[in-house]
Amino acid sequence: MTVSQEKDRVLIFDTTLRDGEQSPGASMTLEEKIQVAELLDEMGVDIIEAGFPAASNGDFEAVSEIAKRVKRATVAGLARAASRDIDRAGEAVKHAERGRIHTFISTSPLHMKYKLQMEPETVYEKIIESVSRARSLVDDVEWSPEDGTRTDHDFLCRCVEAAINAGATTINIPDTVGYMVPEEYQALFAMVKERVPNSDKAVFSVHCHDDLGLAVANSLAGVAGGARQIECTINGLGERAGNAALEEIVMAIRTRGDRLSYETSINPQYLMRASKLVSAVSAFPVQYNKAIVGKNAFAHESGIHQDGMLKNAETYEIMRPEDVGVKSTSLVMGKHSGRHAFREKLVELGYELGENALEDAFRRFKDLADKKKHIFDEDIDALVEDEVSAASEVVKVIALTVIAGTGGPQKAIITLDMDGHHVTKEESGDGPVDATFNAIKALMPHEATLSLYQVHAVTEGTDAQADVSVRLEEDGKMVTGRSADTDTMVASARAYVSALNKLVTRREKSAPHAVGV
Ligand code: KIV
Ligand code: ZN
Repeated sequence: MTVSQEKDRVLIFDTTLRDGEQSPGASMTLEEKIQVAELLDEMGVDIIEAGFPAASNGDFEAVSEIAKRVKRATVAGLARAASRDIDRAGEAVKHAERGRIHTFISTSPLHMKYKLQMEPETVYEKIIESVSRARSLVDDVEWSPEDGTRTDHDFLCRCVEAAINAGATTINIPDTVGYMVPEEYQALFAMVKERVPNSDKAVFSVHCHDDLGLAVANSLAGVAGGARQIECTINGLGERAGNAALEEIVMAIRTRGDRLSYETSINPQYLMRASKLVSAVSAFPVQYNKAIVGKNAFAHESGIHQDGMLKNAETYEIMRPEDVGVKSTSLVMGKHSGRHAFREKLVELGYELGENALEDAFRRFKDLADKKKHIFDEDIDALVEDEVSAASEVVKVIALTVIAGTGGPQKAIITLDMDGHHVTKEESGDGPVDATFNAIKALMPHEATLSLYQVHAVTEGTDAQADVSVRLEEDGKMVTGRSADTDTMVASARAYVSALNKLVTRREKSAPHAVGV
């Protein structure tokens, strides 16, 4: 028997498209969700939670479309403990090769009293009702006690037993508010598995939020306690401080196989690519020092470290960058690089673009090479990410002229392509950014408030591209747009327009039955 046959298989349940998308400002379009789902499927994710079908028509459509397209993974749709939610989820996953309904209800005293305003016995009845209804629609049913980690143990065990009796095949115990410490979460699974008489009839699952920065540690502890499914997201995207990061879990299990005797079906070579794609479509930048996929995760700056690395990479690296899809060789790009070299570069960086997107990206690369002598990998990342998020946008920036300087007032003249028509507007403002945003707002009127305007340089040097993020808030919902250009004003205008495009999509998506988890 090989070592890997002796290891216990842990299922990877990715919820980037559901819990991740619930992250303020991280909404994705249908096309973007399909792109992410296809990549998750290709990289070996076992279960893709594609959305919350009852939340809106847009969510329903996304889950249903992903269910039709995904080949290998199980596709799950989330549902509250209500007939309408469960029926919508069943309808959305019905074309999947393998479909799952994931239904949940709160079980903690706090949630039952204040959120649900229900007595525990009513909640108990609803669990049986909802799981039975889901099981009448699909064979694969997951049940979650929301705020499970703050639930009374006797009640939790009763509910888990009832859910399994009603047909649940997976029991997830979420740490909804990220309150656990590892030993406690491990003991919780051991306790439930020990006390619930039919616990051997279901797979147990962990679902951790990162409010105390313990989501990955807690997830691994839950597995040590007997769970065999981990719910996580790419880049740790998710509500508040996020969910456990898929890439960290996968690499911890791979790198520390001596202590964590499990295996997953994930091909880690896809991790960097998935991180970049999710960052691009959610417009959530990955922090530089993020484990596994951050820009600095494999960078060695200090002389002592560099010296050690040159003698033996293992002195300072516990994983090889190429194992997670970070290529160490770097093809230098410049204004003389042709289409072929550009395509090779994209492959090296882990991007696969269709012919049209490739052409657009190549054209933008040539423009950039005219302005900037050295094109670094980060420049190409920024350019492709821009291209990916701009592809589905209805309104686009065509031209921008800004008059700035000490004299004032600063002015901006912007031309937008709005549904195929070019429209131009001139406005003044308190500085060039304000003038540019005023001109855009005059063409795309809205009541949203600007909650973030952030600029950072993609690389060093005064000719570096500026990476701009713009976050807008409307009715408690946030959207983020992001763009990069050597001209900070052009990047700012594109990022603002991108956020407004998302705001329009979000409004359409929210109608008519918008609900939250
Ligand atoms: O965090 C949570 O409790 C959830 C449930 C819906 C599983 O996301
Ligand atoms: Zn969650």
